[in-house]
Amino acid sequence: MRIAFVGKGGAGKSTIAGTFARLLARRDRAVLALDSDPMPGLPYSLGVAVDDHPIPDDVVVPGPAGRPRWVLRPDLDAPTFVDRYAVRGPDGVLYLQFGNLWGHAVRLQQAQHAWSQVVEHLDQHQWHLVGDLPGGTRQAMAGWAKYADTVCLVVEPTVKSLHTAKRLLALSDATWAPANILLVVNKAGDDSDAKRISERLELSAAAVIPEDREVARADRRGAAPLDTVPDGPLCATVNDLVSQVECLYARN
Ligand SMILES: Nc1ncnc2c1ncn2[C@@H]1O[C@H](COP(=O)(O)OP(=O)(O)OP(=O)(O)O)[C@@H](O)[C@H]1O
Ligand SMILES: [Mg+2]
Repeated sequence: MRIAFVGKGGAGKSTIAGTFARLLARRDRAVLALDSDPMPGLPYSLGVAVDDHPIPDDVVVPGPAGRPRWVLRPDLDAPTFVDRYAVRGPDGVLYLQFGNLWGHAVRLQQAQHAWSQVVEHLDQHQWHLVGDLPGGTRQAMAGWAKYADTVCLVVEPTVKSLHTAKRLLALSDATWAPANILLVVNKAGDDSDAKRISERLELSAAAVIPEDREVARADRRGAAPLDTVPDGPLCATVNDLVSQVECLYARN
C-alpha cells in the first residue's frame, strides 16, 4: 500500500494519516509513515515520542559536477537510511521525518534532496507507505507524493477546503495520475456536508468522519486519537477506510 494524505491546511490530514498508519500496523503490516511536512503534525497523531527528528545534513554529499546538487552518501541506501533515521512508534509504526523548519529554510535543501532520493527507492514490498503532506498544493505540484498510487483527499466542510481539493484533483490528474483517489470528508456536521462536497468534487466519499470535539481536545494536549478516543467515531471510520484500501489493493 502506498497512500498519501493531501488537502488544505487544518483539514485533518495528520490526524487521519497517523490513525490510519497505526490501525494498518495493527493488522500485522510493516508500516512506514512518511512525514514531508516541514511543520510536522504527524508525530502527535501517531503518538511518537519525538516531534523533532529531522534528517541530518550530512546524509548527502555534493553531486557530480553539481547535478543534482546533493546526492545521498554512497554508504546510505534507502533501507539503511530508514533503519538509521526512522523512529519506531506505537503499534510498531516506523516514522520518518523529512525536516523541521525552525526558521532555516535553506538548511532543508540537503534534507530535500535526501528525501526524494530515499522515497523513490523505498521497497514497497518491505513497507506499506503512509504519507502525510503539508497543507495546500505546493508539494503535490512539485511531485512530492509521487511515491503514492493512492491519494486520500481530506476535505472539511468549508469553501476554502473545497477549493483546495478541486485544485489537488486537477493537479493529481495532470502531474502523477494516482491509480486511486479517495475522498474523505472530515469534521462533517451532518449528512448534507458530505453530500455537498461529493457533488462539488464529483467524487463519492469513501469515508465521512464527524466533527468530534474529543479529538480536537486531545490534540490540544498533543495526544493521538488512538490513545485518547480509541472507541470514538474517528478511529472507527478510519479503520473502515483501512479495510477499503486493503480491498482496493487486493483487487489490483
Ligand atoms: N473529526 C474531527 N473532529 C474535530 N476535530 C478534528 C477532527 N479531525 C481533526 N481535527 C482537529 O483539527 C485540527 C487540524 O487537524 P490536523 O492537524 O490533523 O490537520 P492537517 O490537515 O494535518 O493540518 P496541517 O495542514 O496544518 O498539517 C486539529 O486540532 C485536530 O485535532
Ligand atoms: Mg498536518
